[in-house]
Amino acid sequence: MNKIKGVIFDLDGVIVDTAKFHFLAWKKLANDLGFDFTELQNEELKGVSRVRSLEKILEWGNTSLSKDEFAQKMAVKNDNYLSYLTNMNSADILPGVSKVINFLMEEKVPFALGSASKNARPILEKTDLINKFHAIVDGNDVSKAKPDPEVFIIAAEKIGVAQENCLVFEDSVAGVQAANIAGMISVGIGEKEVLHEADYVFSSFEEIEIDFLKKLVTT
Ligand code: BG6
Ligand code: MG
Repeated sequence: MNKIKGVIFDLDGVIVDTAKFHFLAWKKLANDLGFDFTELQNEELKGVSRVRSLEKILEWGNTSLSKDEFAQKMAVKNDNYLSYLTNMNSADILPGVSKVINFLMEEKVPFALGSASKNARPILEKTDLINKFHAIVDGNDVSKAKPDPEVFIIAAEKIGVAQENCLVFEDSVAGVQAANIAGMISVGIGEKEVLHEADYVFSSFEEIEIDFLKKLVTT
């Protein structure tokens, strides 16, 4: 296995538990349109851009919208999503994440954010993480949604690490696929059954031993 010289973190569902807020906001949108979708279907929305998510939801509900209605629904969803983040602060960083970030800082391993979200920067500000990342690549910087590896390729370039020497933390199937396509080590955070394409899967960062990371960055 290649030595790990750089790390890329997804944001939603990895650093903060915002995946549940995206789900609630999309569910409300679907319900307002007169249909519903399941948590299993929601797995297909994780890591996926805002536009592509709404397209998928409308397909599930067999519903079509005019261009203006589409834009309006996206804005309503985003406002609703943002309302959940009002009181977010560093206490909302998921357990175990800071331990990993501190280890990377001590070992001088550069790390980047690689997220599909256009709300990534404000979330990193609220959680006091924005200055820790060596690079931030988010939904404002990419044109292709995960599983396209664009976001991770740009992140690797920005931290100056070859793709094959990068490790990616991801909670979404699309994100794990993107990391694999980029030739990076994929570490899934979530359920093994869902993230079976990942090189490693942990149920949370709390489960990740520093020794596991030490081996990857030193061998
Ligand atoms: C991803 C989330 O990180 O960002 C998706 O997993 C979300 O659920 C996507 O749709 C886009 O986020 P935003 O904040 O730009 O709507
Ligand atoms: Mg995610």
